[in-house]
Amino acid sequence: MEIRKVGVIGCGLMGGGIAQTCAQSGYTTVVREVNQELLDKGLARIEAAWQKMESKGKLTTQQAAETREHLRGTINLEDLADCDVIIEAVIENMEEKLRLYPALDRLLKPEALLLSNTSSLSVTQMGAVTKRPGKVAGLHFFNPAPVMQLVEIVRTISTSDETIETVQQFARSLGKTPVLAKDTAGFIVNFLLIPYLISAVRMLENGVASRDDIDTAMKLGCGYPMGPFTLLDYVGLDTTLWAAEAIYDEYKDPLYAPPPLLRRMVQSGYYGKKSGKGFYDYQ
Ligand code: CAA
Repeated sequence: MEIRKVGVIGCGLMGGGIAQTCAQSGYTTVVREVNQELLDKGLARIEAAWQKMESKGKLTTQQAAETREHLRGTINLEDLADCDVIIEAVIENMEEKLRLYPALDRLLKPEALLLSNTSSLSVTQMGAVTKRPGKVAGLHFFNPAPVMQLVEIVRTISTSDETIETVQQFARSLGKTPVLAKDTAGFIVNFLLIPYLISAVRMLENGVASRDDIDTAMKLGCGYPMGPFTLLDYVGLDTTLWAAEAIYDEYKDPLYAPPPLLRRMVQSGYYGKKSGKGFYDYQ
């Protein structure tokens, strides 16, 4: 199946980065947000990234103009009706996704693929509320989506071989390296990353070391590009909490139980870089 037009649902941190990546790869891309204010904010973030790439010579003026032509924003779901593939990147809330998937299923042509960028929720459950479960899979990007090389392709028990093959080709056409994982909470990366991040929060809670020393230790001791608290702020504390809860729900393994400090910070609106405050202050 040939993919020409891509619909991205959600223009937040991940959806915006995914839409940017698709447009940069030459796909006609429509990104949808729930209201004009959120859409404008998301599109402005993409525009800023393109201006930065232009100023660094990573995009010529002509390439930048062509790339901009490929992207359009909308607040109407109907504008995605003729897309060949949808990448859903809405909030990590299963109720929200279970409302969206049947609506998309009714709207899209029968051969269109429905891919979720979920980081840990059940893609099987999303496919099960559609009449096309064989065409539903996960396509999980990493933040920042235009820069990180990896995508996880998530196969449910119903996803067809043909869908997996098409998604692998599509991922490569975006310049990404795909890895394949079964639909189990956390897939590959978050199953390993979440215990690391929440262990850092527990260390801080227990007074083992300071925030700055833990970050410095992992940066300089392990050569990680960011320490765990910088990464938590970058990924989003809310996103980390949802991922930890989803994996904990699946396995009931205390390793994934969210530490109280993480929960209290999310309850206080300290989501990290995107809200201006997390473990660090960005105001
Ligand atoms: N669009 C285009 N380019 C971008 C960009 C964007 N949105 N954001 C950053 N870049 C570019 C920068 O312009 C820069 O380009 P040059 O090298 O040409 O200058 C390059 O990316 C690196 O950025 P910076 O120089 O600003 O900063 P850096 O060298 O410190 O790298 C980083 C930033 C790539 C984020 C790096 O710190 C890193 O790899 N951090 C770890 C990120 C990570 O682990 N992400 C995964 C999180 S887990 C997740 O996302 C999954 C989940 O479900 C929770």
